[in-house]
Amino acid sequence: MNATGDAAGASARSADAENPPVRRLADWDDAALAGLADEHGTPLYVLDLDRVRRNHRRFAAAFPDAAVHYAAKANTARPVLQTLEAEGAGVECASAGELERALDAGFPGERVHYTAVNPPAGDLDRAVELAAEHPELTITAGAEDTLDRLAERGYDGRLCLRVNPGVGAGHHEKVRTGADAKFGVPDERAADLLADAAETFDVVGVHAHAGSGISGDDLSAHRELVARMGDLARDAPVDLEFVDVGGGFGVPYAPDDPPLDLAAVADATREALGPVDAELVVEPGRYLVADAGVLLARVNTVKETPETTVVGVDAGMTTLARPALYDARHEVRTLGGGSADGRVEATVTGPICESADTFGEHALADPERGDVLAVGNAGAYGYEMASQYNSRPRPATVVVDGDRSAVVRERETTADVVAGEREVNWL
Ligand code: LLP
Repeated sequence: MNATGDAAGASARSADAENPPVRRLADWDDAALAGLADEHGTPLYVLDLDRVRRNHRRFAAAFPDAAVHYAAKANTARPVLQTLEAEGAGVECASAGELERALDAGFPGERVHYTAVNPPAGDLDRAVELAAEHPELTITAGAEDTLDRLAERGYDGRLCLRVNPGVGAGHHEKVRTGADAKFGVPDERAADLLADAAETFDVVGVHAHAGSGISGDDLSAHRELVARMGDLARDAPVDLEFVDVGGGFGVPYAPDDPPLDLAAVADATREALGPVDAELVVEPGRYLVADAGVLLARVNTVKETPETTVVGVDAGMTTLARPALYDARHEVRTLGGGSADGRVEATVTGPICESADTFGEHALADPERGDVLAVGNAGAYGYEMASQYNSRPRPATVVVDGDRSAVVRERETTADVVAGEREVNWL
Protein backbone atom coordinates (compact mmCIF):
# COMPACT_ATOMS: atom_id res chain seq x y z
CA MET A 1 0.00 0.00 0.00
CA ASN A 2 1.33 3.48 -0.76
CA ALA A 3 1.79 6.26 1.76
CA THR A 4 -1.56 7.84 0.95
CA GLY A 5 -3.26 4.47 1.46
CA ASP A 6 -1.59 4.07 4.86
CA ALA A 7 -2.64 7.53 5.90
CA ALA A 8 -6.19 6.89 4.73
CA GLY A 9 -6.23 3.58 6.60
CA ALA A 10 -4.97 5.20 9.79
CA SER A 11 -7.50 7.98 9.59
CA ALA A 12 -10.31 5.49 8.93
CA ARG A 13 -9.17 3.50 12.00
CA SER A 14 -9.15 6.56 14.22
CA ALA A 15 -12.57 7.62 12.89
CA ASP A 16 -13.82 4.10 13.70
CA ALA A 17 -12.48 4.31 17.24
CA GLU A 18 -14.31 7.58 17.76
CA ASN A 19 -17.51 6.51 16.04
CA PRO A 20 -17.58 2.71 15.73
CA PRO A 21 -19.47 1.36 12.73
CA VAL A 22 -21.70 -0.77 14.90
CA ARG A 23 -23.03 -0.65 18.41
CA ARG A 24 -23.54 -4.20 19.69
CA LEU A 25 -26.19 -5.12 22.23
CA ALA A 26 -23.41 -5.84 24.74
CA ASP A 27 -22.20 -2.23 24.44
CA TRP A 28 -25.32 -0.82 26.08
CA ASP A 29 -25.14 0.10 29.78
CA ASP A 30 -27.11 -2.68 31.53
CA ALA A 31 -27.59 -0.74 34.76
CA ALA A 32 -28.97 2.30 32.92
CA LEU A 33 -31.34 0.13 30.88
CA ALA A 34 -32.50 -1.76 33.99
CA GLY A 35 -33.18 1.61 35.65
CA LEU A 36 -35.33 2.68 32.69
CA ALA A 37 -37.27 -0.61 32.77
CA ASP A 38 -37.96 -0.14 36.48
CA GLU A 39 -38.97 3.48 36.07
CA HIS A 40 -41.15 3.19 32.97
CA GLY A 41 -42.22 -0.44 32.92
CA THR A 42 -41.94 -2.94 30.07
CA PRO A 43 -42.15 -3.56 27.20
CA LEU A 44 -40.19 -0.39 26.54
CA TYR A 45 -38.42 0.97 23.49
CA VAL A 46 -35.24 2.91 24.30
CA LEU A 47 -33.70 5.12 21.62
CA ASP A 48 -30.30 6.74 21.91
CA LEU A 49 -30.34 10.02 19.98
CA ASP A 50 -26.59 10.41 20.17
CA ARG A 51 -26.15 7.11 18.35
CA VAL A 52 -28.58 8.32 15.64
CA ARG A 53 -26.48 11.49 15.29
CA ARG A 54 -23.25 9.47 15.04
CA ASN A 55 -24.71 7.01 12.56
CA HIS A 56 -25.72 9.93 10.37
CA ARG A 57 -22.28 11.57 10.65
CA ARG A 58 -20.50 8.34 9.71
CA PHE A 59 -22.88 7.72 6.83
CA ALA A 60 -22.66 11.29 5.51
CA ALA A 61 -18.84 11.17 5.75
CA ALA A 62 -18.83 8.04 3.56
CA PHE A 63 -21.00 9.78 0.94
CA PRO A 64 -19.53 13.29 1.10
CA ASP A 65 -21.02 14.58 -2.14
CA ALA A 66 -24.43 12.91 -1.85
CA ALA A 67 -27.60 14.14 -0.20
CA VAL A 68 -28.58 11.77 2.62
CA HIS A 69 -32.35 11.44 2.98
CA TYR A 70 -33.47 9.49 6.02
CA ALA A 71 -36.21 6.94 5.20
CA ALA A 72 -38.59 7.98 7.97
CA LYS A 73 -40.56 4.73 7.83
CA ALA A 74 -37.80 3.10 9.90
CA ASN A 75 -38.65 5.25 12.92
CA THR A 76 -40.80 8.38 13.03
CA ALA A 77 -40.35 9.25 16.70
CA ARG A 78 -40.33 13.04 16.69
CA PRO A 79 -36.95 13.42 18.44
CA VAL A 80 -35.38 11.12 15.84
CA LEU A 81 -36.72 13.33 13.06
CA GLN A 82 -35.62 16.46 14.91
CA THR A 83 -32.13 15.04 15.53
CA LEU A 84 -31.61 14.16 11.88
CA GLU A 85 -33.05 17.48 10.71
CA ALA A 86 -30.57 19.30 12.97
CA GLU A 87 -27.77 17.20 11.45
CA GLY A 88 -28.73 18.52 8.01
CA ALA A 89 -30.22 15.28 6.66
CA GLY A 90 -33.12 15.22 4.24
CA VAL A 91 -36.07 12.91 4.68
CA GLU A 92 -37.90 10.37 2.51
CA CYS A 93 -41.57 9.97 3.43
CA ALA A 94 -43.81 7.09 2.41
CA SER A 95 -47.23 8.60 3.19
CA ALA A 96 -49.03 11.87 3.77
CA GLY A 97 -48.77 11.14 7.50
CA GLU A 98 -45.00 10.85 7.38
CA LEU A 99 -44.85 13.97 5.22
CA GLU A 100 -46.88 15.89 7.74
CA ARG A 101 -44.76 14.68 10.64
CA ALA A 102 -41.46 15.41 8.88
CA LEU A 103 -42.50 18.99 8.01
CA ASP A 104 -43.83 19.43 11.51
CA ALA A 105 -40.53 18.25 12.98
CA GLY A 106 -38.86 21.10 11.09
CA PHE A 107 -37.52 19.63 7.84
CA PRO A 108 -37.52 22.43 5.26
CA GLY A 109 -39.40 21.55 2.06
CA GLU A 110 -36.25 21.38 -0.06
CA ARG A 111 -35.00 18.44 2.02
CA VAL A 112 -38.29 16.52 1.87
CA HIS A 113 -39.21 13.84 -0.67
CA TYR A 114 -42.55 12.09 -0.67
CA THR A 115 -42.41 8.67 -2.37
CA ALA A 116 -45.99 7.95 -3.45
CA VAL A 117 -46.46 4.17 -3.68
CA ASN A 118 -50.00 3.47 -4.94
CA PRO A 119 -51.10 6.54 -3.00
CA PRO A 120 -54.63 6.63 -1.59
CA ALA A 121 -56.60 9.71 -2.75
CA GLY A 122 -56.40 11.36 0.66
CA ASP A 123 -52.61 11.10 0.63
CA LEU A 124 -52.36 12.82 -2.75
CA ASP A 125 -54.83 15.53 -1.68
CA ARG A 126 -52.77 16.25 1.41
CA ALA A 127 -49.41 16.01 -0.37
CA VAL A 128 -50.55 18.53 -2.99
CA GLU A 129 -51.82 20.87 -0.25
CA LEU A 130 -48.53 20.58 1.63
CA ALA A 131 -46.59 21.16 -1.58
CA ALA A 132 -48.51 24.41 -2.07
CA GLU A 133 -47.27 25.51 1.37
CA HIS A 134 -43.78 24.09 0.78
CA PRO A 135 -43.18 24.36 -2.98
CA GLU A 136 -39.61 23.09 -2.61
CA LEU A 137 -40.70 19.59 -1.65
CA THR A 138 -40.53 16.81 -4.22
CA ILE A 139 -43.17 14.20 -5.01
CA THR A 140 -41.93 10.89 -6.43
CA ALA A 141 -44.39 9.00 -8.63
CA GLY A 142 -44.03 5.35 -9.57
CA ALA A 143 -46.96 4.90 -11.98
CA GLU A 144 -48.50 6.80 -14.89
CA ASP A 145 -51.74 6.84 -12.93
CA THR A 146 -50.02 8.76 -10.16
CA LEU A 147 -48.83 11.36 -12.68
CA ASP A 148 -52.40 11.72 -13.99
CA ARG A 149 -53.85 11.96 -10.51
CA LEU A 150 -51.33 14.64 -9.53
CA ALA A 151 -52.16 16.62 -12.69
CA GLU A 152 -55.90 16.28 -11.94
CA ARG A 153 -55.23 17.93 -8.61
CA GLY A 154 -53.53 20.87 -10.34
CA TYR A 155 -50.06 19.87 -9.17
CA ASP A 156 -47.31 21.27 -11.36
CA GLY A 157 -44.45 21.27 -8.86
CA ARG A 158 -41.26 19.29 -8.39
CA LEU A 159 -41.56 15.72 -9.59
CA CYS A 160 -39.30 12.69 -9.49
CA LEU A 161 -40.01 9.50 -11.45
CA ARG A 162 -39.56 6.17 -9.68
CA VAL A 163 -38.23 3.52 -12.00
CA ASN A 164 -38.39 -0.23 -11.62
CA PRO A 165 -34.78 -1.15 -12.27
CA GLY A 166 -35.49 -4.86 -12.61
CA VAL A 167 -32.93 -5.69 -9.90
CA GLY A 168 -33.91 -6.45 -6.34
CA ALA A 169 -31.91 -7.15 -3.19
CA GLY A 170 -32.47 -7.35 0.54
CA HIS A 171 -32.51 -9.47 3.68
CA HIS A 172 -35.81 -11.24 2.85
CA GLU A 173 -37.97 -11.73 -0.22
CA LYS A 174 -40.69 -9.62 1.40
CA VAL A 175 -38.51 -6.52 1.35
CA ARG A 176 -37.05 -6.78 -2.17
CA THR A 177 -38.77 -4.04 -4.13
CA GLY A 178 -36.39 -3.46 -7.04
CA ALA A 179 -37.76 -6.12 -9.36
CA ASP A 180 -41.32 -6.08 -8.02
CA ALA A 181 -43.82 -4.73 -10.57
CA LYS A 182 -45.61 -2.84 -7.80
CA PHE A 183 -42.78 -0.33 -7.53
CA GLY A 184 -41.84 2.18 -10.20
CA VAL A 185 -42.48 2.47 -13.91
CA PRO A 186 -40.86 -0.08 -16.19
CA ASP A 187 -37.29 0.89 -16.98
CA GLU A 188 -37.91 0.95 -20.75
CA ARG A 189 -40.80 3.44 -20.40
CA ALA A 190 -38.86 5.83 -18.18
CA ALA A 191 -37.36 8.14 -20.81
CA ASP A 192 -40.71 8.68 -22.59
CA LEU A 193 -42.52 9.25 -19.33
CA LEU A 194 -39.94 11.79 -18.23
CA ALA A 195 -40.49 13.72 -21.46
CA ASP A 196 -44.29 13.58 -21.07
CA ALA A 197 -44.15 14.50 -17.41
CA ALA A 198 -41.96 17.53 -18.16
CA GLU A 199 -44.92 19.08 -20.02
CA THR A 200 -46.89 19.28 -16.77
CA PHE A 201 -44.43 19.12 -13.90
CA ASP A 202 -41.04 20.44 -12.92
CA VAL A 203 -39.20 17.15 -13.45
CA VAL A 204 -36.18 17.12 -11.15
CA GLY A 205 -35.08 13.54 -10.55
CA VAL A 206 -35.22 9.80 -11.00
CA HIS A 207 -35.47 7.24 -8.23
CA ALA A 208 -35.07 3.50 -7.67
CA HIS A 209 -34.79 1.33 -4.58
CA ALA A 210 -33.50 -2.26 -4.73
CA GLY A 211 -34.77 -3.41 -1.35
CA SER A 212 -34.00 -3.31 2.29
CA GLY A 213 -31.20 -4.55 4.49
CA ILE A 214 -28.57 -5.04 1.79
CA SER A 215 -25.41 -6.72 3.04
CA GLY A 216 -21.93 -6.45 1.60
CA ASP A 217 -22.60 -9.69 -0.34
CA ASP A 218 -25.40 -8.04 -2.28
CA LEU A 219 -23.26 -5.32 -3.77
CA SER A 220 -23.52 -6.68 -7.29
CA ALA A 221 -27.28 -6.00 -7.32
CA HIS A 222 -26.72 -2.55 -5.86
CA ARG A 223 -24.04 -1.84 -8.47
CA GLU A 224 -26.35 -2.95 -11.27
CA LEU A 225 -29.21 -0.80 -10.05
CA VAL A 226 -26.98 2.24 -9.71
CA ALA A 227 -25.46 1.67 -13.16
CA ARG A 228 -28.94 1.57 -14.71
CA MET A 229 -29.83 4.79 -12.96
CA GLY A 230 -26.62 6.38 -14.24
CA ASP A 231 -27.53 5.34 -17.80
CA LEU A 232 -31.04 6.66 -17.38
CA ALA A 233 -29.76 9.99 -16.04
CA ARG A 234 -27.37 10.36 -18.98
CA ASP A 235 -30.10 9.49 -21.51
CA ALA A 236 -32.86 11.50 -19.84
CA PRO A 237 -34.66 13.88 -22.17
CA VAL A 238 -34.69 16.54 -19.42
CA ASP A 239 -32.03 18.01 -17.14
CA LEU A 240 -32.13 16.29 -13.79
CA GLU A 241 -31.18 17.78 -10.45
CA PHE A 242 -30.68 14.44 -8.72
CA VAL A 243 -30.43 10.67 -9.12
CA ASP A 244 -31.85 8.86 -6.09
CA VAL A 245 -30.63 5.27 -5.72
CA GLY A 246 -32.73 4.46 -2.65
CA GLY A 247 -31.77 2.95 0.68
CA GLY A 248 -31.39 -0.53 2.06
CA PHE A 249 -27.94 -0.22 3.68
CA GLY A 250 -27.76 -3.24 5.97
CA VAL A 251 -26.83 -3.55 9.62
CA PRO A 252 -25.46 -6.64 11.37
CA TYR A 253 -28.24 -8.38 13.32
CA ALA A 254 -26.18 -11.34 14.58
CA PRO A 255 -23.45 -10.61 17.15
CA ASP A 256 -20.70 -11.89 14.85
CA ASP A 257 -21.98 -10.38 11.58
CA PRO A 258 -19.52 -7.78 10.35
CA PRO A 259 -20.71 -4.21 9.89
CA LEU A 260 -21.36 -3.01 6.35
CA ASP A 261 -18.21 -1.65 4.74
CA LEU A 262 -19.63 1.79 3.98
CA ALA A 263 -16.53 2.99 2.17
CA ALA A 264 -16.79 0.01 -0.19
CA VAL A 265 -20.49 0.66 -0.77
CA ALA A 266 -19.85 4.34 -1.42
CA ASP A 267 -17.01 3.54 -3.85
CA ALA A 268 -19.15 0.96 -5.66
CA THR A 269 -21.98 3.47 -5.88
CA ARG A 270 -19.84 6.24 -7.37
CA GLU A 271 -18.13 3.89 -9.78
CA ALA A 272 -21.37 2.28 -10.96
CA LEU A 273 -23.13 5.62 -11.35
CA GLY A 274 -20.45 7.01 -13.65
CA PRO A 275 -20.34 10.67 -14.61
CA VAL A 276 -23.72 12.34 -14.24
CA ASP A 277 -24.57 15.99 -14.10
CA ALA A 278 -26.88 15.51 -11.13
CA GLU A 279 -26.58 15.08 -7.38
CA LEU A 280 -26.60 11.59 -5.91
CA VAL A 281 -29.32 10.98 -3.29
CA VAL A 282 -29.25 8.00 -0.90
CA GLU A 283 -32.02 7.00 1.49
CA PRO A 284 -30.76 5.04 4.49
CA GLY A 285 -33.42 4.05 7.01
CA ARG A 286 -32.25 1.27 9.32
CA TYR A 287 -28.58 2.19 9.05
CA LEU A 288 -29.26 5.41 10.94
CA VAL A 289 -31.55 4.06 13.66
CA ALA A 290 -31.38 0.26 14.08
CA ASP A 291 -28.53 0.04 16.59
CA ALA A 292 -29.71 3.24 18.30
CA GLY A 293 -32.63 1.29 19.75
CA VAL A 294 -33.26 -1.59 22.12
CA LEU A 295 -36.48 -3.16 23.26
CA LEU A 296 -36.72 -4.11 26.93
CA ALA A 297 -39.04 -6.92 27.98
CA ARG A 298 -39.64 -8.60 31.31
CA VAL A 299 -39.79 -12.36 31.87
CA ASN A 300 -43.26 -13.57 32.92
CA THR A 301 -42.83 -17.32 32.60
CA VAL A 302 -39.96 -19.79 32.74
CA LYS A 303 -41.07 -23.24 31.69
CA GLU A 304 -38.86 -26.30 31.45
CA THR A 305 -39.99 -28.68 28.74
CA PRO A 306 -38.33 -31.75 27.24
CA GLU A 307 -37.42 -29.77 24.12
CA THR A 308 -36.35 -26.41 25.49
CA THR A 309 -36.66 -23.86 28.25
CA VAL A 310 -39.48 -21.53 27.27
CA VAL A 311 -38.89 -17.99 28.46
CA GLY A 312 -42.10 -15.99 28.05
CA VAL A 313 -41.68 -12.21 28.03
CA ASP A 314 -44.14 -9.30 27.92
CA ALA A 315 -43.13 -8.18 24.39
CA GLY A 316 -44.06 -10.13 21.31
CA MET A 317 -44.99 -9.92 17.66
CA THR A 318 -47.24 -6.95 18.41
CA THR A 319 -44.26 -5.07 19.86
CA LEU A 320 -41.62 -6.16 17.31
CA ALA A 321 -43.10 -7.76 14.20
CA ARG A 322 -39.86 -8.52 12.33
CA PRO A 323 -39.19 -12.06 13.62
CA ALA A 324 -42.76 -13.18 12.83
CA LEU A 325 -42.87 -11.41 9.48
CA TYR A 326 -39.41 -12.01 8.06
CA ASP A 327 -37.95 -14.69 10.35
CA ALA A 328 -35.66 -11.87 11.40
CA ARG A 329 -33.13 -12.66 14.06
CA HIS A 330 -32.59 -10.07 16.80
CA GLU A 331 -30.01 -10.63 19.49
CA VAL A 332 -31.48 -11.11 22.99
CA ARG A 333 -29.63 -11.00 26.29
CA THR A 334 -30.39 -10.73 29.99
CA LEU A 335 -29.62 -7.38 31.56
CA GLY A 336 -27.01 -8.00 34.23
CA GLY A 337 -26.57 -11.56 32.96
CA GLY A 338 -22.82 -11.15 33.22
CA SER A 339 -20.76 -14.31 33.09
CA ALA A 340 -23.86 -16.54 33.35
CA ASP A 341 -24.99 -15.20 29.97
CA GLY A 342 -25.03 -18.01 27.46
CA ARG A 343 -25.70 -20.77 29.98
CA VAL A 344 -29.26 -21.80 29.10
CA GLU A 345 -30.58 -22.52 25.60
CA ALA A 346 -33.97 -20.88 25.73
CA THR A 347 -36.85 -20.19 23.38
CA VAL A 348 -37.96 -16.63 23.97
CA THR A 349 -41.65 -16.13 23.25
CA GLY A 350 -44.25 -13.40 23.57
CA PRO A 351 -47.77 -13.31 25.05
CA ILE A 352 -49.69 -13.54 21.75
CA CYS A 353 -51.77 -16.60 20.81
CA GLU A 354 -49.73 -17.52 17.73
CA SER A 355 -46.75 -19.75 17.30
CA ALA A 356 -45.18 -17.02 15.14
CA ASP A 357 -44.94 -15.00 18.34
CA THR A 358 -41.34 -15.88 19.15
CA PHE A 359 -37.95 -14.23 19.22
CA GLY A 360 -36.30 -17.59 18.53
CA GLU A 361 -33.62 -19.50 20.41
CA HIS A 362 -31.16 -17.62 22.58
CA ALA A 363 -28.48 -18.62 25.06
CA LEU A 364 -29.38 -16.69 28.22
CA ALA A 365 -28.17 -16.38 31.77
CA ASP A 366 -30.17 -18.63 34.14
CA PRO A 367 -33.59 -17.25 33.33
CA GLU A 368 -35.83 -16.23 36.18
CA ARG A 369 -39.21 -14.60 36.37
CA GLY A 370 -38.73 -10.83 36.64
CA ASP A 371 -35.49 -10.71 34.61
CA VAL A 372 -35.33 -7.94 32.04
CA LEU A 373 -34.19 -8.98 28.58
CA ALA A 374 -32.84 -6.57 25.98
CA VAL A 375 -33.56 -7.11 22.28
CA GLY A 376 -31.01 -5.52 19.98
CA ASN A 377 -31.29 -3.47 16.80
CA ALA A 378 -34.85 -2.54 17.68
CA GLY A 379 -34.55 1.11 16.58
CA ALA A 380 -35.58 0.37 12.99
CA TYR A 381 -39.02 -1.00 12.05
CA GLY A 382 -39.76 -1.80 15.69
CA TYR A 383 -42.32 0.56 17.17
CA GLU A 384 -43.23 1.59 13.60
CA MET A 385 -44.70 -1.82 12.89
CA ALA A 386 -46.22 -2.42 16.33
CA SER A 387 -49.90 -3.34 16.42
CA GLN A 388 -52.74 -3.72 18.90
CA TYR A 389 -53.49 -7.32 17.94
CA ASN A 390 -54.92 -9.33 20.88
CA SER A 391 -56.05 -5.91 22.26
CA ARG A 392 -52.54 -5.26 23.39
CA PRO A 393 -51.70 -1.60 23.99
CA ARG A 394 -48.50 -0.49 22.24
CA PRO A 395 -45.44 0.12 24.44
CA ALA A 396 -43.85 3.38 25.56
CA THR A 397 -40.72 4.92 24.04
CA VAL A 398 -37.98 6.64 26.01
CA VAL A 399 -35.18 8.60 24.38
CA VAL A 400 -31.76 9.03 25.94
CA ASP A 401 -29.17 11.57 24.88
CA GLY A 402 -25.97 11.76 26.93
CA ASP A 403 -27.19 11.92 30.52
CA ARG A 404 -30.73 13.04 29.68
CA SER A 405 -33.76 10.84 29.14
CA ALA A 406 -37.44 11.48 28.48
CA VAL A 407 -40.60 9.55 27.67
CA VAL A 408 -41.56 10.55 24.14
CA ARG A 409 -44.45 8.16 23.62
CA GLU A 410 -46.68 7.14 26.48
CA ARG A 411 -47.54 3.51 26.93
CA GLU A 412 -51.02 2.94 25.54
CA THR A 413 -53.81 1.61 27.71
CA THR A 414 -56.85 -0.48 26.87
CA ALA A 415 -58.76 2.83 26.74
CA ASP A 416 -56.50 3.86 23.82
CA VAL A 417 -57.16 0.55 22.09
CA VAL A 418 -60.93 1.11 22.15
CA ALA A 419 -60.87 4.92 21.81
CA GLY A 420 -62.24 4.96 18.25
CA GLU A 421 -64.99 2.38 18.86
CA ARG A 422 -68.63 3.39 18.50
CA GLU A 423 -71.78 1.55 19.66
CA VAL A 424 -74.35 0.35 17.14
CA ASN A 425 -77.86 1.33 18.16
CA TRP A 426 -79.54 -2.02 17.47
CA LEU A 427 -77.70 -4.27 19.92
N1 LLP B 1 -36.14 4.13 0.39
C1 LLP B 1 -37.28 3.54 0.00
C2 LLP B 1 -37.99 4.00 -1.19
C3 LLP B 1 -37.80 2.47 0.75
O1 LLP B 1 -38.93 1.89 0.37
C4 LLP B 1 -37.10 2.03 1.91
C5 LLP B 1 -37.63 0.91 2.70
C6 LLP B 1 -35.91 2.69 2.27
C7 LLP B 1 -35.47 3.74 1.48
C8 LLP B 1 -35.11 2.33 3.47
O2 LLP B 1 -34.68 1.01 3.55
P1 LLP B 1 -33.62 0.65 4.72
O3 LLP B 1 -32.41 1.54 4.51
O4 LLP B 1 -34.26 0.98 6.02
O5 LLP B 1 -33.34 -0.78 4.60
N2 LLP B 1 -40.05 -3.53 7.47
C9 LLP B 1 -38.90 -4.07 6.77
C10 LLP B 1 -38.25 -3.05 5.87
C11 LLP B 1 -39.17 -2.53 4.79
C12 LLP B 1 -38.56 -1.32 4.17
C13 LLP B 1 -39.38 -0.75 3.10
N3 LLP B 1 -38.73 0.31 2.42
C14 LLP B 1 -37.90 -4.61 7.81
O6 LLP B 1 -38.17 -4.50 9.00
O7 LLP B 1 -36.86 -5.13 7.43
